[in-house]
Amino acid sequence: MPIAMIVHGGAWAIPDDQVEPHLAGCRAALASGWSILAAGGSALDACEAAVRLMEDDPIFDAGTGSHLTAAGAVELDAAIMDGRTLGYGAVANLRRVRNPISLARKLLTGAGTFLVGEGAEAYAVAQGLPLCENDTLIVERERALWEQWRATHAAGTEQVIGGQDTVGAIALDQAGNLVAANSTGGTPFKLPGRIGDTPLIGCGLYADAQVGGAVCTGWGESIVRLALARRIVDMLERGLPPQVAAETAMRILARRVAGGSGGCIVLTPDGRIGLAWNTRHMAYAYRSEAGEDASGI
Ligand code: GLY
Repeated sequence: MPIAMIVHGGAWAIPDDQVEPHLAGCRAALASGWSILAAGGSALDACEAAVRLMEDDPIFDAGTGSHLTAAGAVELDAAIMDGRTLGYGAVANLRRVRNPISLARKLLTGAGTFLVGEGAEAYAVAQGLPLCENDTLIVERERALWEQWRATHAAGTEQVIGGQDTVGAIALDQAGNLVAANSTGGTPFKLPGRIGDTPLIGCGLYADAQVGGAVCTGWGESIVRLALARRIVDMLERGLPPQVAAETAMRILARRVAGGSGGCIVLTPDGRIGLAWNTRHMAYAYRSEAGEDASGI
């Protein structure tokens, strides 16, 4: 079967001085996933590797470098879905796990469910994943933004929209499996405990190896209201080309929900790619054995 992969690094108004690092991060994530697929490895391994790389890259709002909550901490969400079995692993409100995608992967192949907060962290320890201090996930750029915000807002009273920089990946392997994965620190200054679209199956991601996969990014509350990832896969099921499905989803997002904003990536079981966004930018990179090879913002 022909292999293919697409990754994104968030849909928002990416500042000029962050454009190159976003592109470099997406290209590196794609290269790491592609090398696994090209060697005959699984789409699960390719997606986990690509998302891990972006979690470790402080330019992205995932893992290290994530936005801070209104209380000044990092809280992380992630999910992975196996399109062959429709199994999934999802985690949310993690404060002490450096790579949430790897914990989601453990759940997919283990308990196969959705764990949050302390229970999820206890499961990480039981699975041999080390815990870290929350402070070690915080970078100076985000602490400075939070301090600026705190100077004018009472903690926990407000949630700011803008700067949704979630990362995601979809991969198709030689065995014909299609996998979707994503990870995020959520919206800037979110209320502690808030969960967006990212770890919710059907909202932030969906994968069906017989039909296709979709991963969304952007303002989570608008994406959840539309169950947008599943809606995109429904469009593929009805025969829409992936690019048409992606563009249609963005039009629905903008028209149906006030302030609805974000982007999406789409991949079909025969390796066709779609991507669209209604924000100023979306960082992305993709490649397919059919000869597609691009990155942009
Ligand atoms: N799309 C990420 C979030 O809203 O949390």
